[in-house]
Amino acid sequence: MTVLITTPNGAVGRYLTEALRDRSDARFFVRSEAGAERLGEVRGEVFIGDASDAADVRGAVVGVDRLYLAHPFADDQAAVETRLGVAALEAGARRIVKLGARGFTGDGIVPDAVTGTHDAITERLRIAGVAELTVLRPDRFLQNFLPAAASLAEGTLADPAGPGARGYVDVRDIAAVALAELLAERPVGGEIEISGPQALTLSELADRFGAVLGRPVRYVDVPLDGAWRAALVERGIAPRVIDGLYGLYANYRREGVAGLGDGVQRVLGRPPRSVEDFAADLLVPALSGS
Ligand SMILES: NC(=O)c1ccc[n+]([C@@H]2O[C@H](COP(=O)([O-])OP(=O)(O)OC[C@H]3O[C@@H](n4cnc5c(N)ncnc54)[C@H](OP(=O)(O)O)[C@@H]3O)[C@@H](O)[C@H]2O)c1
Repeated sequence: MTVLITTPNGAVGRYLTEALRDRSDARFFVRSEAGAERLGEVRGEVFIGDASDAADVRGAVVGVDRLYLAHPFADDQAAVETRLGVAALEAGARRIVKLGARGFTGDGIVPDAVTGTHDAITERLRIAGVAELTVLRPDRFLQNFLPAAASLAEGTLADPAGPGARGYVDVRDIAAVALAELLAERPVGGEIEISGPQALTLSELADRFGAVLGRPVRYVDVPLDGAWRAALVERGIAPRVIDGLYGLYANYRREGVAGLGDGVQRVLGRPPRSVEDFAADLLVPALSGS
């Protein structure tokens, strides 16, 4: 059996890499030598190529039986993931575990490009006839807040997702569910909704971070205005991607209290990790630079 891991240095993928480091039947698809180095030592094969290049994709999927399929939100996400998935099927793969995202429910929700892209990819994979397709549908990642660790330490959690409550999830749990689905001996498939143990507002999340950090942390709403857009332009983010993120955040702001997914309990037989576990294990070390 050969398992192909895309984005093995990515938000979820890095934990799959950790778990599969010692297996000779895992193949890791990185974009560059630098990406290969970031993986560290792995027993399996490292394939260097660009997921947006058709020839590279054909090379990456040779002999693959199972595929972990992920890509960041970008103009080419639908094309990249669809091409990878279809190429893997043509190469004989039977199982795809795709990283998707939770959909929105409730009044006033407007279709957005981020969740719409996942739906479009999923539909195309189904049409392509994949035997076993698992779509992971996680809520917002707690790890999104790691780049803002310094600001949290200074007492501010600034975020544009608005006042609603969500099941912020530790990415390590998403990876654990992905791994279980990838390696299961039994047939798998279907959609798995994944969230943390409870729905929290950003104020409640800030309080919990503050309790672990030992100092008050205050939530500051970031309006989706020109300044928000200008800050993303400054970071080099493409205008179409900014439009997509705008639509996504606008839906977060509209949704109110998001429902919770039971995927962690259902697949792993244990509750999801708490915010406190995340903060102690990852946020505190990020602050001390370890
Ligand atoms: N963030 C959230 O809260 C959240 C919640 C639910 C769902 N999601 C979904 O999670 C998915 C992942 O998003 P993410 O932003 O966290 O990204 P990510 O999984 O961290 O992916 C980034 C990785 O993709 C690799 N990559 C990018 N373009 C590539 C290419 N052309 N060829 C090969 N590798 C390439 C990058 O490689 P390099 O290191 O070489 O650049 C990088 O390691 C998205 O589909 C998003 O909708 C996110």
